[in-house]
Amino acid sequence: MKSPSRSGVFQAGTDQRLEAFAESISFDRRMYQQDIRGSIAHARMLQSVGLITSDDFQQIQDTLVEIQAELDSGDFPIRMELEDIHMHIEQALIDRIGDVGRKLHTARSRNDQVSTDVRMWIRESLDAIDGMLIDLQKAFLSRCEADLDVILPAYTHLQRAQPVLAPHYWLAYIEKFQRDRERIADCRHRVNQCPLGVAAVAGTTLPIDREQTAHSLGFEGITANSLDTSSDRDFILETAFVLSVIASHLSGWAEEWILWSTVEFNFIKIPQAFCTGSSIMPQKVNPDTLELTRGKSARVMGNLQTLMLLIKNLPLAYNRDLQEDKPPLFDSFDTVAAMLGLAAPIVAGSVLQRDVIASRLEEGYLDATTLMEWLIAKGVPQRKAHHVVGAIVGEAMERKVPLSELPIETMAAHAPEIDASILDVLGTRNAVAAFVSYGSTAPHQVRRQIDRWNGRVGLP
Ligand code: ARG
Repeated sequence: MKSPSRSGVFQAGTDQRLEAFAESISFDRRMYQQDIRGSIAHARMLQSVGLITSDDFQQIQDTLVEIQAELDSGDFPIRMELEDIHMHIEQALIDRIGDVGRKLHTARSRNDQVSTDVRMWIRESLDAIDGMLIDLQKAFLSRCEADLDVILPAYTHLQRAQPVLAPHYWLAYIEKFQRDRERIADCRHRVNQCPLGVAAVAGTTLPIDREQTAHSLGFEGITANSLDTSSDRDFILETAFVLSVIASHLSGWAEEWILWSTVEFNFIKIPQAFCTGSSIMPQKVNPDTLELTRGKSARVMGNLQTLMLLIKNLPLAYNRDLQEDKPPLFDSFDTVAAMLGLAAPIVAGSVLQRDVIASRLEEGYLDATTLMEWLIAKGVPQRKAHHVVGAIVGEAMERKVPLSELPIETMAAHAPEIDASILDVLGTRNAVAAFVSYGSTAPHQVRRQIDRWNGRVGLP
């Protein structure tokens, strides 16, 4: 069968090697619902401006609905020579209703059609990712009340730094995923502009109503320049970037919990349902889901690079290179969705090893900075207090004791301001209680943030 895009100008058929090389049906068929919705809206517009009759429209709509049902049930034959999903559907329409079907492509090109379809597909997929981010935020939030009494070391340079409440960690991830949600919402506005009607590259001489199709397909507006629109894939780059940041957040979290689940840390137990064993070492319970989350994030970031390189040298406007945008785009969505789907149950179901954490919490001088700030509050200049506390910590290290077990006189020998009231801020529990600033791990601040998120998760 001859491809409908080969006009009378062609005197030879297509080499089969080109067909196999150039097809996109193997991956763009997943946009068939969007393609059919777009075609019905386009046909309705053609009717309302008088380019087709209402009987034409009715036949086109009824047949497209029929074709959709066949695609839904998998009963639709795929033919390589028809290249892509757009031509498959149009050809099926023509096969069934002849010349009426041949009118559908009036004032339309596959260039604006493919952009419309992919924008609709992204819009829906971003909404699905957004819902999964909310579920993950809820999983972190669900831990907050239960873990309120647990103190964890906060690290910088992966060295013990200062003590924080466990929910302070959970809230940190909720914030990151909220920014991801904001990026989705922002990117979605630029995705959600309708290209339909710019046709191939210059627009059309026919009296179409672009506002009508845009409105009926739920777009926020219409694109303003046909040359720009025909070539524009910024919205795909942005989407791939937004997905890469989500992947990066998930990868960092996975890495942290892989460390936390080692014998060396032993802070957390990952649910066994999400771990695997070893074929040779019987004792092993490996955090493969987290490792693959970290590993698969590389693909998502690689897809962003692929897309950047795909687009960077293209002259205006549509170039066939752009067909290559879909495999990396789809892969990024599938990968991030799979990672998010597993992260939520792991977060909700993992168990903090409270006793182990508590038994080692006084190691690493997590309260040293609190001691320094206590001295600053007594009037000691920061640089001096920093130096003095360093010397006090050095002495405690030598004696192999925590700061709270150093004799008061020993500390006072370094800083005469120190008296027995220093014990109020030493030890990790006292140190946590001493925080006051907004956004800190102060228990009342953490409480406030939990309450804020309890009323806010899921809201824009
Ligand atoms: N299969 C093509 C794609 O996905 C459809 C657009 C083809 N347009 C063209 N002028 N050949 O990009």
